Amino acid sequence: MIQCGRLKGNQQKNHRVIIKSMSERTITIPLWGAPGTPLLRTETLARDLGLSRVDAPPTEGPLVRLTEERLEFCTLGDPDLSGALWVDFTDTHAQRRSRASARELLIRAARIRGVDHPLLIDATAGLGRDGFLLAAHGFRVVMIEANPVVAALLDDGLRRARHLPRLEAVLARIRLFVGNSLELLPQLDEQPAVIYLDPMFPQRTKSAKVKQDLRLLQLLDRHDLAPEPLLAAALAIGANKVVVKRPLKGPFLGGIAPGHCLKGKAIRFDVYPGPGKKESPVQIV
Ligand SMILES: C[S@@+](CC[C@H](N)C(=O)[O-])C[C@H]1O[C@@H](n2cnc3c(N)ncnc32)[C@H](O)[C@@H]1O
Repeated sequence: MIQCGRLKGNQQKNHRVIIKSMSERTITIPLWGAPGTPLLRTETLARDLGLSRVDAPPTEGPLVRLTEERLEFCTLGDPDLSGALWVDFTDTHAQRRSRASARELLIRAARIRGVDHPLLIDATAGLGRDGFLLAAHGFRVVMIEANPVVAALLDDGLRRARHLPRLEAVLARIRLFVGNSLELLPQLDEQPAVIYLDPMFPQRTKSAKVKQDLRLLQLLDRHDLAPEPLLAAALAIGANKVVVKRPLKGPFLGGIAPGHCLKGKAIRFDVYPGPGKKESPVQIV
């Protein structure tokens, strides 16, 4: 049961995290605690995430790295991917800069008129950027993330953001759950107003346009989670609407036409009104 009013998210234990290399070999990700980080914390994290703790970072390959400041995911020995992935909700400058118009579109797509703090389920939470934005615009957001490493990065970002008093009200509206939304959506104890889906777009790893953080996130993508059944499960909940982020020219998810779309420069939001609302989804054969 997901209790939407409760304060604490759960953590899925002992979930082995694997990623596929370019040659499709399966690699388990090591976890390394940098000097200054408590050994107990690294050990607990490794156990919770199903990762193997290492005493020294490898020279190449993926790595979950705990530093004194934050938890990061990186891949070593690849000059094209020299950065690291972490979650930071405190960097207002970056937030203002980043894709302001696409973000405004998301708020318009999710908006529920006349309801204070509607409940929104972000069923593909990822690094929580969209979910955080929605919470900042008044939604109570339940974030669900299936990948334990991504969820741990997100949890770490939320934890650090809690130190900032100006974010207190926004964070009070966010809950994080680790697990597969397909299994968790039917367990909600409150009918959500909106279910939001942002499944990973098809891989374009060779494109220079794909930013480093997205490429790192793609490395962690669990290929076993197909997005089509998630849309079917979301529609079955009977929320006021289901909103799906898609590439601007991508096909409708699962071939199901939305009631309407909001289009940006590179992406669009497909909006599926719930039962009893004006527009209902149409299956395209
Ligand atoms: C493109 S990312 C979402 C990015 C997110 N909207 C943001 O703003 O950071 C997609 C995420 O959905 C997660 N995901 C995919 N299928 C899922 C499922 N069935 N349940 C929970 N999470 C899922 C993936 O692990 C991945 O982290």
